[in-house]
Amino acid sequence: MAKTGDQAGAVAELGKPCSGLPQHVALIMDGNGRWANARGLARTEGHRRGLETLRRVIRHSVSVGLDYVTIFSFSSENWRRPSSEVSFLMSLLKRFVQRDLSEIHKANVRIRVIGERNNLEESILKLLVEAEEVTSGNTGMTLVIAFNYGSRNEIVRATKSVAAKIASGALCADDVSEDTISQHLDTAGIPDPDLIIRTSGELRLSNFLLWQAAYTEFYFTDCSWPEFDEAEYDKALSEFSHRERRFGAVEAKVR
Ligand code: IPE
Ligand code: IPE
Ligand code: MG
Repeated sequence: MAKTGDQAGAVAELGKPCSGLPQHVALIMDGNGRWANARGLARTEGHRRGLETLRRVIRHSVSVGLDYVTIFSFSSENWRRPSSEVSFLMSLLKRFVQRDLSEIHKANVRIRVIGERNNLEESILKLLVEAEEVTSGNTGMTLVIAFNYGSRNEIVRATKSVAAKIASGALCADDVSEDTISQHLDTAGIPDPDLIIRTSGELRLSNFLLWQAAYTEFYFTDCSWPEFDEAEYDKALSEFSHRERRFGAVEAKVR
């Protein structure tokens, strides 16, 4: 059977060990609330500390030379939390963009935002769009902010756009390929993550990058997000460098 474009791409990787750095790391920043509760603090204090971790992680990502970093900052299911916590998380995001955008911009980092934008509070949407616009010409690392993001929601929206194109005659149903779907996701143009790191001991994806993570390597650590530091990050990157990726093909003879 002939290889599809997608398969050919994956097989071209065969024989390459995970030499060195991943191109794209995605982070599920989890455990803020538990970190705080374990210290008799309010969950919001965990989120505040989590923002400090995020700043360090972004700086470290730039300094080690990653091309793409995706951060899961708020999921489409996180609206189910108490409204006081949701409001706090919204204000933290605003503060992050307002205070950190200039440093991020100076570091030549480009921001992309993924997630559902419909029905977002106007002031938040404005800040996110501004962050994308201000940094759009930057040529260094891309920081992808997954905000109000849920993978199933993203796939549904992509499916609707593809269906609309078929209905209008712009696209033929027989021509729909894996690439077509990828190009209609919020992550269009962004390579799939090579490594997903989740902190705080939970072993699940929680609706994060389901399509994109088909061949992603996973790294789970018990370390909570507020405690995740450069050394913990380096441990994950180092473990990735020893993984052997096969993409469904036979064992690679490497080195
Ligand atoms: C991650 O920490 C931050 C967000 C999900 C926004 P949590 O708030 O999920 O912390 P835990 O998992 O309850 O400890
Ligand atoms: C995933 O963490 C979402 C973010 C890190 C933003 P959650 O804490 O919301 O995930 P569950 O509910 O434990 O699966
Ligand atoms: Mg959590």
